[in-house]
Amino acid sequence: MIKLENKESSRIKIYFLGMEEAAGPMWNGRTQGLFTGEYLNTFFTVDDNKVVSLLVGLGEAKIGITEVKEVVSKGIKVLKEKKVGECSIDISDFLNISGITAVREVVQGILLGDYEPPFFGENNKKELEIYLNGFSQEQVFAIEKEIEIGSNIAKGITWARDMVNMPGNHFRPEDFADEIKEMMKDTEVECEQISYEELENMGMNGLLAVGSSSEFPPCFLVFRYLAAPESKEITGLVGKGVTCDTGGYCLKPSNSMSGIRGDMAGGAAVAGAIYALAKNHIKTNVIGFIPMCENRISPGSLVPGDVISSYGGKSIEICNTDAEGRLILADAVSYAVKKVKVTRVLDIATLTGAVVNMLGFSTAGLISDNQDFFELFRNAYKTSGERYWRLPVYEEQEKMIKSKVADIKNMGEGHCGTITAALFIKAFAEGKPWIHLDIAGTAWVDPPLFEYQSKGATGAGVTSLYYLCSDGK
Ligand code: BES
Ligand code: ZN
Ligand code: ZN
Repeated sequence: MIKLENKESSRIKIYFLGMEEAAGPMWNGRTQGLFTGEYLNTFFTVDDNKVVSLLVGLGEAKIGITEVKEVVSKGIKVLKEKKVGECSIDISDFLNISGITAVREVVQGILLGDYEPPFFGENNKKELEIYLNGFSQEQVFAIEKEIEIGSNIAKGITWARDMVNMPGNHFRPEDFADEIKEMMKDTEVECEQISYEELENMGMNGLLAVGSSSEFPPCFLVFRYLAAPESKEITGLVGKGVTCDTGGYCLKPSNSMSGIRGDMAGGAAVAGAIYALAKNHIKTNVIGFIPMCENRISPGSLVPGDVISSYGGKSIEICNTDAEGRLILADAVSYAVKKVKVTRVLDIATLTGAVVNMLGFSTAGLISDNQDFFELFRNAYKTSGERYWRLPVYEEQEKMIKSKVADIKNMGEGHCGTITAALFIKAFAEGKPWIHLDIAGTAWVDPPLFEYQSKGATGAGVTSLYYLCSDGK
């Protein structure tokens, strides 16, 4: 719970201090010079009125979106460690640095710092009570609005994290669909679940071929948030929803199995972003598409050498059953552009190990065939503070997925695997403006890289997709 407070009532206050401020007359005496204000350093002090202050260092660097979220999360985490459930935060510095929108970053810092993954046992998590102060009376209305906006974005992120953190045996494809339908009841979003039989009738053979490997059937969730009737633009967001990826017959080695439940993080990001857009009543048209399935071993499941057909009409040679994400995304992207007629399409997926080797855990891979759409997304991810890096696409890489027995094959040549995976999906986008995000590295962290993360799911993609569709607002 985050409230505004102009009187000073809490027994604990968090202050954020740069190095100069920490060394200045106001604080240096009270800290005996022991707190220098270095970035993310913390220190407790008590004043004459017995009010405890937690000091968090801002360092010397420029304070941007990432830093605001980090220092606030750090303060919250330190208090939680000490079992303190209530405090007030002076936000005046942040307002001075980046204006009123700083509030939504502060709010995200609070709620993400407080995040705990689902716990299967007795849960005694207490709700935090946070009071914000350090603003003028004229700012109250705008700040309350920003608290609302920031809370909804943070809820989109923490909900996405919750779904990705769920153990696979508690989160089958249909549980995933049910969870989204339940959550969206509270919004203007309309959900349509396409069942196994309908998938068969439609010839969604990419999704069916992968999903029939499990006793828990695949399904396809389409959810619409159409809040800008005057606009012709409809953005399709397609998210990979593999709730368990064992690799299939091309089985993953046991030491690569730990994160396999997280293979639906792209789908979770799409759901989280559309939830936040709807809760904040953003005027946009956006449709989410999540093909949901497991990738396991069964008597009839795919083996290398198989050939399947797809919803888009192309035949596909299966070279590796662990390259399942592109098969289900191909069908979903075809459905989005051919059947639903979205005007531009973005897919997001934990797609390749190669992107992790290339860019690590802080930066996701991006591929696009459209400069205007790319630039819109670049503005969005700059506003969100997430990191993406655009990879090149050339003809020689397109050649790598040519098959001798079918229209296309589901694997390249053992190098530039992130690019060939993306190009496979592009082949189903029918020339519509297209962006592909490979979040295999950024969706899951152990250990966390930033203070606003916790071990496990990060909610990667939620904020960038949000700002893409909200035009940065
Ligand atoms: N879900 C995995 C990719 C992945 C790897 C996600 C590591 C998170 C962490 C995907 O389905 C996969 O297995 N991709 C293969 C493709 C290969 C067989 C062409 C890969 O990257 O090894
Ligand atoms: Zn796989
Ligand atoms: Zn996968």
